[in-house]
Amino acid sequence: MCGIVAYVGPKDAAPILLEGLQRLEYRGYDSAGVVVSNRGLKMRKVKGRVADLAAVVPARFRGTLGIGHTRWATHGAPSDVNAHPHLSADERIAVVHNGIIENADELRAKLEADGAVFVSETDSEVLSHLIARTVEDADSLAEAVRGALKRVVGTYGIAVIDAQRPGEVVVARNGSPIVLGIGEKEMFAASDVAALVRYTRQVVHLEDGELAVLKTDGFTTFASDARETAKEPLTVDWEAGHYDTGGYEHYLLKEISEQPETVARTLRGRLDDRFHIAHLGGLNMDARETRSFRRVKIIGCGSAYYSGQIGAQLIEELARIPADAEPASEFRYRSPVVEPDTLYVAISQSGETYDTLAAVQELKRKGGRVLGIVNTVGSAIAREVDGGLYLHAGPEVSVASTKAFTSTAVAFALLALHLGRVRDLSPADGRRICEGLRALPGQIKEILALEPQIKELAHKYAGSPSMMFVGRVRGYPVAREGAQKLKEISYVHAEAYPASELKHGPLALIGPEMPTVAIVPDDELLDKNLTTLGEIRARGGRVLMVGHREADPRLADDCLVVPRNEIELDPILLSIPLQIFAYHAAVALERDVDKPRNLAKSVTVE
Ligand code: AGP
Repeated sequence: MCGIVAYVGPKDAAPILLEGLQRLEYRGYDSAGVVVSNRGLKMRKVKGRVADLAAVVPARFRGTLGIGHTRWATHGAPSDVNAHPHLSADERIAVVHNGIIENADELRAKLEADGAVFVSETDSEVLSHLIARTVEDADSLAEAVRGALKRVVGTYGIAVIDAQRPGEVVVARNGSPIVLGIGEKEMFAASDVAALVRYTRQVVHLEDGELAVLKTDGFTTFASDARETAKEPLTVDWEAGHYDTGGYEHYLLKEISEQPETVARTLRGRLDDRFHIAHLGGLNMDARETRSFRRVKIIGCGSAYYSGQIGAQLIEELARIPADAEPASEFRYRSPVVEPDTLYVAISQSGETYDTLAAVQELKRKGGRVLGIVNTVGSAIAREVDGGLYLHAGPEVSVASTKAFTSTAVAFALLALHLGRVRDLSPADGRRICEGLRALPGQIKEILALEPQIKELAHKYAGSPSMMFVGRVRGYPVAREGAQKLKEISYVHAEAYPASELKHGPLALIGPEMPTVAIVPDDELLDKNLTTLGEIRARGGRVLMVGHREADPRLADDCLVVPRNEIELDPILLSIPLQIFAYHAAVALERDVDKPRNLAKSVTVE
């Protein structure tokens, strides 16, 4: 999953491309490159960050049309030569690609047999050679690109320029996102609106199989059969400023600190205090249909999947419908039995995660009813599902998800309240949950105020080679997400286990060198959880307890006490101290907090 950007217009393209790549860097930061067209193609590309690229782009790098790329390496290690753009041998065609070409080896062999000389190890380079083969005789660059793509198997978001056609950029999408930005006498294209909101908020999303030709005076889109398609521009909610760190040292700290507002935005206009229900206009389901579901199946990846586990518990507790969550790729490839009376819910912050998108498309093919809980407006998953909820949490730039995680759990509380109140959830319970939800933003503020204490604890434990996270039932998904956060930004090995499972194996790992973070809410399992702490202490294990009361020092070395809400909603609050803990552990270990190694924000490849 890379970031690509393109520009055609009256201005110098290079500064616009570099700024756009900077904004897309969370999608991949192994190498970066740009090419502009100005009496031939001029290219610069380097292994490393966009800042490293900017350092080698000379001021006189003129050209009012160009394309750029920031890479997350899949085929070929990060290097200058494997960086994009890729040129054809005659340096006429330049291509940037986001995605994976599954038949690249076969195409490469044919092209090499036909005399093509490859310079990189990438799958993407086949595109520049394929297009160069037909562009000479093609009536247009679009025709040459379309012809080449017919031979490609795999996913792509691409941008292509031709030195001999200096007035146009061709972009195409299959599986990887491409959004067009409509400017005054200029056009933009990018993997994500983040790269173009500084210049325009009028955008058009390409669908799978679509291709577009961008020129200074506008754009034309075509379906895969070359038929012209009509597009209705959308207005992006967010401004360029939303993509800045807002004075915070890191996007992650900014996004953690935004949660009182983002949770309030997810709730806005969706709670009805008269009937104690949730108003969810986007579900596209009437009460009869809502009541018809006998099961809820939740799919997502990574942190989205863990918030889905919290969601499943909320739905079982409040709506009394069997519910569970599963990693999207596992669900998709195990050829699931799709049932008409099961409601499927796909979760995705970016709305572009390929494993989740493909699982949604599989469900749709099998007639499943699919809702989406998505943050990014107009994203592929949002366009693919039958209905759903937007989080309204604003752009999430840091690779590690935080505000989208809590807003997704809140969205599930709204969905569970909705499903419950059309069934047997009483008005009194409905009121209880509504009041609990309204109390969340204020309580999150209280937790954010614990940052100095959490920072101290993070410094105390950050040196541990490994950490264990445990929780029971409602605490278990919190433990999983806590371990996930610590792993992905501090690189400290962390495992999460149901507390009850420790004695069936993992307890063997416990000792002074393996501290445990225990999620211990004040619920019906409190005593059982305290017993587990005793078992850990008995083996010399150190314990950091996160709960609603101070613990007996014989049971825990350290305690983090957070405000109580309704027991069903407590997991939302209990996950926030773990975000702050992981953040400060990563800072203490001098990690690249917003761009952790080997990861990227939106995983648009399998
Ligand atoms: C979470 O911190 C990670 N960035 C990752 O696990 C993420 O949750 C996963 O890739 C799913 O992304 P999505 O919500 O955009 O689909």
